Amino acid sequence: MIEKYKVKQCKNVAVIMDGNGRWAQERARNRVWGHVRGSRIVSDIVQSADDLGVESLTLYAFSTENWCRPQFEIKTLFKLLKKFLIKERPRIIKNKIKFRVIGDWAKLPKDTREIISELQEDTKDFSGLKLTFAFGYGGRAEIVESVKKMVDSGMEITEENISNSLYAPDISDIDLLIRTGGDQRISNFLLWQCAYAELYFTETKWPSFTREEFEAIIYQVENRERRFGSVMSMESLESSKKLAEVNSQIFS
Ligand code: FPP
Repeated sequence: MIEKYKVKQCKNVAVIMDGNGRWAQERARNRVWGHVRGSRIVSDIVQSADDLGVESLTLYAFSTENWCRPQFEIKTLFKLLKKFLIKERPRIIKNKIKFRVIGDWAKLPKDTREIISELQEDTKDFSGLKLTFAFGYGGRAEIVESVKKMVDSGMEITEENISNSLYAPDISDIDLLIRTGGDQRISNFLLWQCAYAELYFTETKWPSFTREEFEAIIYQVENRERRFGSVMSMESLESSKKLAEVNSQIFS
């Protein structure tokens, strides 16, 4: 059997699932139909990420700005989230996926909040893929809350402390941010964590996005050279660090 490719660079992936409304309108359907069809793709992408050995997958399901949408659309998104969680719970547990929701999800219906809390609790010690839904999420709000926490507890304002006070500190630095739907923006998503992210924008609208396209994007970005502000790739940076260590041991 051919062993499945496992990611080396793209361990921490985030996706802005955009284009649902336009996808539906192009088909002369109500915008919410796009969300319904879009929600069907989510489990395929989660499965693909898990198979590829991605360590963390964060999906933008509802932004702070989305609260301005019509009530019917908001309620549909709530329902789709609930449906997804009920349907996918057995697979999440079986595959040892650590599930979380980040953002302000206090306005979700009580039963959905209970389902989320229960799933978070039941999977909190799992060591598999970290699957995070950003719901009622805004990147600026997350940074502000993080800094407030630090001020309240008298912590020094450092980059490390800000990172450690975010909603889910273990999400850490995003390696690859994908946005579907053709727009080339970050839209207040994981602003702190995307500082060095590779960005990939595809014209494909989310309901037409496939596991195959997701994998093709990952393979492509795996081959990009990431220099993190240096003139060398991470690999050569590591080997030059090792060389410096050896030199200092020899010459000390
Ligand atoms: C943006 O499309 C998408 C959203 C606001 C919601 C994303 C939600 C899903 C993919 C379904 C939810 C499913 C789960 C499992 C949580 P848009 O409506 O802004 O599209 P447009 O840019 O074409 O208007």
